[in-house]
Amino acid sequence: MSRLLYDSLKITLHKTSDGYQIIDHEKNMKMTLSFDDYCKIIQDNRKHQLNKIIKANNLDILDCTGGFAKDAAILASLGNNITLIEQNPMIMSLLIDARGKIKNDEIRSVFNRIKIKFGNCIDFIRNTNKHFDYIYFDFMFNINKSALPSKNEQFLRKIVKNDRNVNINIIQETVQRVVSKIIIKDHISSNDYDNFDIINTYKGKTVKYHLLEGKNGYRKISKK
Ligand SMILES: C[S@@+](CC[C@H](N)C(=O)[O-])C[C@H]1O[C@@H](n2cnc3c(N)ncnc32)[C@H](O)[C@@H]1O
Repeated sequence: MSRLLYDSLKITLHKTSDGYQIIDHEKNMKMTLSFDDYCKIIQDNRKHQLNKIIKANNLDILDCTGGFAKDAAILASLGNNITLIEQNPMIMSLLIDARGKIKNDEIRSVFNRIKIKFGNCIDFIRNTNKHFDYIYFDFMFNINKSALPSKNEQFLRKIVKNDRNVNINIIQETVQRVVSKIIIKDHISSNDYDNFDIINTYKGKTVKYHLLEGKNGYRKISKK
């Protein structure tokens, strides 16, 4: 995303003594990313729907849409190894900064299981030889949620460009390229992914998770 777009969004990134901070000048709102704040969601990890979908642990999971790494933290705290991809430079700066200032030992050990990589997930999928047990997608929903979004989510919504067709093409290509299981997080009332061969859908109150299977149409991916 270019500097110009951030300017037009009236969002700026600053280095402070507490690490990186982003400011939304339109809403007069500030945020810094702290992974130590994830203690509560990590404590509740066994109750999380992702734990019901991914029943094993010690799996290799590719998180294609890193964002603020909440889902990656849940998956890692359940004992899995995560490769997280994020394509937005501002979000990437916040992630790297947040990782460097973790204070809590448990959170540090969770984040030691997460490799953070900058780029577009489909480029990564095209070029990797590593086999992943699961590939996870959580694109921004196209539906406006009624509940008041958290500050982090309001920033995400403003910074991240989202194109439904681009996202669907990424998933279509991924399904053809891999043998992995694929999980797509979606809004409960969306039907964006209804045309895919969905094995199962796990429904929560506001979100649902579709489980798909890679068809490996292009090439064999060897287990490292
Ligand atoms: C809804 S957020 C993900 C939230 C994340 N699951 C969490 O728990 O914090 C979507 C993120 O995916 C990133 N993204 C979207 N398309 C991407 C792509 N093709 N490759 C890499 N990252 C992408 C966006 O920049 C955004 O940060």
